[in-house]
Amino acid sequence: MEGREIRINMPKPNKIIDKIRSRRSRHMQTHYKGDGVGVRGKNMDFLHDPKFVAAWDSMLEGNHGEFRNKKWFKGRVPDVRWRAHLNCWAAHSALKLDGDFVECGTATGFQAATVCNYLDFQNVDKSFFLFDTFAGIPVSDELTEKERTYAQKSNKNAYFDCYSAAEENFSPWSNVQLLRGILPGTLLDASINKIAYLHIDLNNASAEMETIQELWGCITAGAPIILDDYAFRGHEDQYAAWNKFSIKYEHPIFTLPTGQGLMIKR
Ligand SMILES: C[S@@+](CC[C@H](N)C(=O)[O-])C[C@H]1O[C@@H](n2cnc3c(N)ncnc32)[C@H](O)[C@@H]1O
Repeated sequence: MEGREIRINMPKPNKIIDKIRSRRSRHMQTHYKGDGVGVRGKNMDFLHDPKFVAAWDSMLEGNHGEFRNKKWFKGRVPDVRWRAHLNCWAAHSALKLDGDFVECGTATGFQAATVCNYLDFQNVDKSFFLFDTFAGIPVSDELTEKERTYAQKSNKNAYFDCYSAAEENFSPWSNVQLLRGILPGTLLDASINKIAYLHIDLNNASAEMETIQELWGCITAGAPIILDDYAFRGHEDQYAAWNKFSIKYEHPIFTLPTGQGLMIKR
């Protein structure tokens, strides 16, 4: 081989890097990327459904305000459209079931306001009960150490006294009721007989468990129950508590890539 020059047709280094980058960017291309979820190559017409888009956009308008100043929101409403899609679907499916709609943990109402807009709730012959302190997670002795730290952090970085903002956001719907105070005690302030749709988003296990135990008997068979934080990393106390509940009550929970859990009451 001596004396013979071997020429390997190597692309220039920057060309190799460009190729890797373009391959990676093709691979990373997603049709939906937000809220810790990236999806590509799927039909997702719901994202462009005019009704859903209008519902989401109109919720956005009412939810700017003070969120701009809160650290965790980085000046914007998070892109939780896939979660909102599940909530709208579940609420829509529940329209023909016996009972009212209930949300435990509303704040200014990303999810509930999207649902109300989506369903033109003023024309729905049901009430929607929204329970919250409207001022953050109560730091009680019942919280675990981890939950207490989370509550203190989130009260500082995410929540604020949002009752008047919530009142304003839900003012278009006279059949929506805001119930202010600490759950589960405030459940007594509403006349709930049957529940057709339940959304639970309290970000702490003890309050969620006490609340579901009070409400369980009122939930209509076939009603969807959405657990907003179920599979989120950092919310292991809620995950463990709901899994225990699921076994005890023999109702399986479906884990969604959004982190939500979905249960159907039998
Ligand atoms: C993540 S936020 C709810 C967000 C809301 N679902 C949305 O769509 O924007 C959790 C809410 O639960 C409320 N909360 C937590 N523990 C509570 C309790 N024991 N009683 C009443 N509200 C509580 C907090 O005030 C907070 O507004």
